[in-house]
Amino acid sequence: MKFSTAFIGGGIMATAILGGMIAEGTPASQIWVVEPDAGTRRKLRTQFQVNALEMANQDLAFADLVIWAVKPQVFKDAARLVKTHTNKALHLSVAAGIGSDSISTWLGTDRVVRAMPNTPALIGKGMTALYARAGVNDDERELICQVLGATGELIWVKDEPQPNAVTALSGSGPAHVFYFLEAMVEAGESLGLTREQAYTLALGTFGGATALAAQSDEPPAVLRQRVTSKEEQHMRP
Ligand SMILES: NC(=O)c1ccc[n+]([C@@H]2O[C@H](COP(=O)([O-])OP(=O)(O)OC[C@H]3O[C@@H](n4cnc5c(N)ncnc54)[C@H](OP(=O)(O)O)[C@@H]3O)[C@@H](O)[C@H]2O)c1
Repeated sequence: MKFSTAFIGGGIMATAILGGMIAEGTPASQIWVVEPDAGTRRKLRTQFQVNALEMANQDLAFADLVIWAVKPQVFKDAARLVKTHTNKALHLSVAAGIGSDSISTWLGTDRVVRAMPNTPALIGKGMTALYARAGVNDDERELICQVLGATGELIWVKDEPQPNAVTALSGSGPAHVFYFLEAMVEAGESLGLTREQAYTLALGTFGGATALAAQSDEPPAVLRQRVTSKEEQHMRP
């Protein structure tokens, strides 16, 4: 399907999504990015050959889909500038914590989808929850799935509060995992392993344990108990 997409904000999340779109065959010429930082614009043009604008202008009038990938605190101001050029577009926001009521009011449309992705989307291993307002039809939902498909797994949620729960769980979740990894590596080093050894062991353990959980019929609590079984059980002849 041929459609034009405008990204508002060209940072980490926009890069993950547009990189996936291009990898799946969307022509770069059909992607526009509004990004105030000149270095980031240059990088996006060089790496992906997309069109990059310093600020919103009439070029965005061709956009069928606008993807909001700015920090939550700048969304409202950015919306004021973008709104006048994008009144025929479907809007997809990845901004954490901004409710669709606000987005709908700021943009003057009910054709709004909220998405909560996470950074593994950068390598096509993301988990994204999606919430659509009533103004979004089935074809538009399908378009969103097509656009985000290359970033990893997608689930639709029915109620507006759920995206906030998703932000806490999978949106911010990678930070918990990385923090835990850091702690495991530090613990390994403090017990005499080299940093490299500790990192290899920690990373492999995470990968192996999550793969085991994914393949197992047992809940995580049972898998955990198999590791934390009492010492004397191991000691019995
Ligand atoms: N990173 C994550 O793990 C994650 C996960 C889930 C959801 N999100 C959401 O994704 C959104 C983007 O996050 P990110 O991590 O991609 O942030 P980011 O890397 O900082 O990207 C945001 C980009 O927007 C640009 N920008 C600032 N004001 C703008 C404006 N008025 N118009 C257009 N672009 C503007 C920024 O430029 P300057 O740097 O020059 O200001 C920056 O390049 C956020 O709302 C966040 O809540 C992020």
